[in-house]
Amino acid sequence: MTAQATYLMTDPAHYQVAYAINPWMKPGVWGADPAAHLGAATNGWRALRGALEAAGGKVIAIPGAAGQPDMVFPANAAVVLDGKALLARFRCPERQGEEAPLAAAFDGLRRQGLLTEVAAIEGCFHEGAGDAIWDAARGHFWVGSGPRSSPEAADQIAAFFGRPVVRIPLATEQYYHLDTCFCPLSGGEVLYYPPALTGAALTALYDRTRPDQRLEADDEDAEAFCVNAVCLGRTIIMAEPRPRLRARLTERGYRVIGVDLAEFILSGGGAFCMTLRLDLTSAAAAAPAATLELVNP
Ligand code: ARG
Repeated sequence: MTAQATYLMTDPAHYQVAYAINPWMKPGVWGADPAAHLGAATNGWRALRGALEAAGGKVIAIPGAAGQPDMVFPANAAVVLDGKALLARFRCPERQGEEAPLAAAFDGLRRQGLLTEVAAIEGCFHEGAGDAIWDAARGHFWVGSGPRSSPEAADQIAAFFGRPVVRIPLATEQYYHLDTCFCPLSGGEVLYYPPALTGAALTALYDRTRPDQRLEADDEDAEAFCVNAVCLGRTIIMAEPRPRLRARLTERGYRVIGVDLAEFILSGGGAFCMTLRLDLTSAAAAAPAATLELVNP
């Protein structure tokens, strides 16, 4: 990949924890001192942006919208590949108000030349890159379903991008988006939290990875939102990891950057879901996709 990695982030000015739509969300904790929490969240957001830029990435920040606090998690806004964006349809009414401002923002990105085509998921729910993670080493999407995204969305993703999808049904409400429990790394490893995946998901993963490519996260890693990580080349940016996870990844030749994202974990989010990669291309995939099944081409 030669182009600069480009990440969308949403300005955190309207961020708060105002409701609970996943088991991690603590509106009471936030509400006890909203100004202090917003201050700390803003620092965490800036630290993440700084870490992405220090790793060689470029960050494009869009404004949030009043009353839509979770717009700060743009991974849920859309699936993006090859300049094409497929906008999300949110399951929870609390987040459906993001769809109009996001459509306007993505149209703006298209007009700026950062995207060539913008469409939306139709007739079912799907929450963007949080439940459709591009695996550049394998040339396919891993597509999550269950608590938020409908299983039938996988067909639309395969058809829109013309790339294979591998279905990963999720097992628990706690790990409600695939990106909370599953992270393909640039070297072909997958960091994942087994209890969050169904038997079918584990079979799909086992079929497509060698044993030495499977890095199991433990309870503490998953609860610290460290699986929700951004991998840029050999750098992995994540919420502050435990020493053991840092050491395991360092051993594999990765540089691990921990960022204090405690205020976003209060909403059930970490580094990956606070970003959306805009410049991914299927041509950069290392492995030919032809060996994988294309769902409803
Ligand atoms: N509070 C947000 C929600 O429940 C957090 C979203 C985190 N996004 C993610 N892709 N994991 O929707």
